[in-house]
Amino acid sequence: MMTRSFPRSVLVTGGCGFIGSAFLLKLVPRYPDTQFVNLDVLGYAANPLSVAELEARPNYTFVHADLNDADGIYRVLSEHRPDWVVHFAAESHVDRSILDPLAFARTNIIGTLNLLEACRAIWPEADGHCFHHVSTDEVFGSLEDDGHFREDTPYDPSSPYSASKAASDHFVRAYGRTFGLPYRLTNCSNNYGPRQFPEKLIPLMILNALDGKPLPVYGTGMNVRDWLYVDDHVEAIACVLTAGRDGETYCIGGNAEKPNLEVVQEILRTVAAETDRPADEMAALIQYVTDRPGHDHRYAIDAGRIHRELGWAPAESFETGLAKTVRWYLENPAWVESVRTGAYRDWMDQNYGDRA
Ligand code: NAD
Ligand code: DAU
Repeated sequence: MMTRSFPRSVLVTGGCGFIGSAFLLKLVPRYPDTQFVNLDVLGYAANPLSVAELEARPNYTFVHADLNDADGIYRVLSEHRPDWVVHFAAESHVDRSILDPLAFARTNIIGTLNLLEACRAIWPEADGHCFHHVSTDEVFGSLEDDGHFREDTPYDPSSPYSASKAASDHFVRAYGRTFGLPYRLTNCSNNYGPRQFPEKLIPLMILNALDGKPLPVYGTGMNVRDWLYVDDHVEAIACVLTAGRDGETYCIGGNAEKPNLEVVQEILRTVAAETDRPADEMAALIQYVTDRPGHDHRYAIDAGRIHRELGWAPAESFETGLAKTVRWYLENPAWVESVRTGAYRDWMDQNYGDRA
């Protein structure tokens, strides 16, 4: 297996979001000779507190920019001239995509195109460059009770979110074939871990259980997701960046399939073990609510290729990852409070207001 080192400069989009911040928190200290530029519009799911500890590092810079502003994106890339781009930024929540599909088309499709165009302009030659597109298993649609998604599974997206991510995947590959853009693409299953915005299942259930609020389970609670601890996703991307091949796709998953109801019950057991709240009292908070329209029944990833070819495997089991996650939310009330009250927005204005 040929490997390569991290280059002089890497631009990360969406680095104030959940997975992008986990990526930066791990890799900025690990590669002090690489300059990391975090490009983020600071949308509702971004929390700059997540990466505040990086501000003191000389190899980290934040740039406030919107993927939908083609000229602005071109300016940022021309100024920083990154060798690699790792593209996390997206509208990421399925329920929101059902309410406002156009916002997803704008950022996830047009925004990705703006970024691809800027890369094409600043990278006249492929050598030494890489566009890593961070995508999702949702592009493959829904599985029945058996089978797994693999790199060659046909696309069949169900939600406006997954349709927009599928479109962006197609554009990335089209830029590879048509313009010779050097890209790598990963399709990952459901992530969980610290610093995830509490609209997603796991942080929502942890925080509602702690607050004694209802725990809304969509439909029967029998939909299945394949859970991966966020740091394992980060290591998988790092592995593809350094050891993967241009023009290739790698599926990433945790081999941790679970029906949603089981996930909720496990969260309650973990919260009970970490606090003095009785699990059965919290279980009484579960409410079955109207199902999500077009709700995919099951996701499950066959991560065989990345394991065989690049040697990646998740380090955390669902149990160990969930315990770390619950503990993180318990130990970081300031982060939780800032998201809940929107106070982080004042912090953003004070600290980032002039960085457009
Ligand atoms: P997130 O919603 O937590 O963060 C997204 C980040 O992108 C935010 O910081 C936001 O401000 C930024 N952003 C949004 N629109 C932007 C724009 N127009 N210009 C610049 N920045 C913008 O999302 P996440 O869960 O961290 O997901 C990151 C990526 O990983 C997404 O591409 C998502 O599709 C993909 N993914 C997520 C999961 C998961 O389980 N969360 C799994 C597989 C793949
Ligand atoms: O599979 C990867 C995808 O995982 C990513 O591409 C998305 O960005 C990410 O949001 C996630 O999508 P899901 O729709 O699977 O995640 P979510 O946390 O919204 O929901 C997980 C499951 O839990 C899903 O079956 C819906 C259900 N659910 C969700 C919420 C928010 C509930 O039952 N109740 C809830 O309140």
